[in-house]
Amino acid sequence: MQNQFNSPVERLENMREEALKGGGEKRIKAQHSKGKLTARERISLLLDPGTFEELGMLVTHRSTNFGLDKQKFLGDGVVTGYGKVNGRLVYVFSQDFTVLGGSLAEAHAEKICKIMDLALENGAPVVGLNDSGGARIQEGVVSLGGYADIFYRNVQASGVVPQLSLILGPCAGGAVYSPALTDFTFMVEGSSYMFVTGPNVVKTVTHEEVTSEELGGAKTHATKSGVTHFTAPHEAAAIEQAKTVLGFLPQNCEEDPQALEYTASDEKRPALDTLIPENAQQPYDIREAINEIVDSETFFEVQRDYAENIVVGFARLGGKSVGVVSNQPAFLAGVLDIHASIKAARFVRTCDAFNVPLLVLEDVPGFLPGTDQEWNGIITHGAKLLYAFSEATVPRVTVITRKAYGGAYDVMNSRNIGADIVYSWPTAEIAVMGAKGAAEIIFRKEISGADDPSAKLAEKEAEYAELFAHPYNAAARGYVDEVINPSDTRDKLIKAFDMLKNKVRNNPRKKHGNLPL
Ligand code: HXC
Repeated sequence: MQNQFNSPVERLENMREEALKGGGEKRIKAQHSKGKLTARERISLLLDPGTFEELGMLVTHRSTNFGLDKQKFLGDGVVTGYGKVNGRLVYVFSQDFTVLGGSLAEAHAEKICKIMDLALENGAPVVGLNDSGGARIQEGVVSLGGYADIFYRNVQASGVVPQLSLILGPCAGGAVYSPALTDFTFMVEGSSYMFVTGPNVVKTVTHEEVTSEELGGAKTHATKSGVTHFTAPHEAAAIEQAKTVLGFLPQNCEEDPQALEYTASDEKRPALDTLIPENAQQPYDIREAINEIVDSETFFEVQRDYAENIVVGFARLGGKSVGVVSNQPAFLAGVLDIHASIKAARFVRTCDAFNVPLLVLEDVPGFLPGTDQEWNGIITHGAKLLYAFSEATVPRVTVITRKAYGGAYDVMNSRNIGADIVYSWPTAEIAVMGAKGAAEIIFRKEISGADDPSAKLAEKEAEYAELFAHPYNAAARGYVDEVINPSDTRDKLIKAFDMLKNKVRNNPRKKHGNLPL
């Protein structure tokens, strides 16, 4: 056969050019017309300029089924390699939807597995830019095997190196289960979808008519399912979010997160002294407290629109990365329910896995009672949060701002489950339950036998409040280390976390715990 190239070098150049074009202008336009970027454009937004080193550019699929022998795509629909994000090593794969729908089969999977193995061996994060219809139908079981190879590696790498999944198109099957095994998922409004299978199959199986957006759009997963941790208006913003998250995390579980330069200044925050309303039933926004306490404009909320009765996110305190977990009195009075427990438990475990210290702001009236919660397993799900805090070995500091009632008091990083330091504001109420409920139970006979039952109830309520609606009993027993002025909170926390920076606590040796799943 006549060689169409003048030299081996020319042949190589030609192949590289082909691979970089990814099939040419038509394919690029197809992506852009849907408001999407190409696989390579996404990588260049993610990585520091000039740092990308590609691996497996010339890999092609091996299947000959259904005409696949007639057309080969250099790279097999995924661009893989490594580079730097803000000067730190990351491994990346970026699926190309214009090649067989970004679908994954043997060669495509091998390329992803290769960079995952490198990431695990070299202790650096993996960022997946997913845009894939899942297992490649034409290749049959090797496609399923390929996904299983990735799932297995996702699990091996879990808790060892951070794994971030950006969903940048319609993703189905394995293309959503792999992200589900990673630490954080990012979706783009209007162009990314996640479902086990799409609306057509749903209609056939359940006769349900549903749009892609309703079934698995960014809003759905941000508000209803909690599957995504972040949503962004466009791809560039989603990629920026991923970079921000990487900035709060270490490269791997053996390292601490990077601390930024911090110069101490006046740490008093007088606005906190007037944050808590006079009336204990009145709500306030815990984000105001968080933003006052942490370094200016560093709070980066996770799962913002899901289970809004609990607020979680990363921030910096005196330049150091911290994970914040706070009840939100402005939503359902900050009660702990199933979704809030699951959301917070997951975040606590993620922080603990990656050595991010935990700051807890507590204002919680208790667990949400009722049939809906009981029948759906609040006992098991609430226990997840209890478990997560109890096993966390990172520095843990709690600030009780107002209510700390019942089991929820125990759960929210109390001293007895291992908090290193517990501060309380003078407005704290630490008791088995609120004064009215408590009076109604323990003085029931006295109240019903009184000439004026409502006056008696009010009297007993006041008596109970006098005894418990403050932090001083807890402080007397050492459950609270110090009752502090709210305005001093930031100063106290910077000092406490600095004091705890070399903390070593080991849980008993075990194969693994049995988290109440
Ligand atoms: C091969 C695929 C493909 C797949 C899409 N394509 N998915 N090719 N295998 N899994 C191809 C299409 O044939 C089409 O090729 C091109 O990609 C674009 O697809 P469209 O359907 O035109 O795009 P769109 O309308 O945007 O819909 C995207 C989609 C839909 C929602 C992803 O394609 C879809 O439902 N695909 C199948 C999803 C699925 O069920 N996957 C298998 C999951 S099983 P042409 O040549 O026409 O451009 C799985 C197992 C893992 O992943 C295990 C989990 C535990």
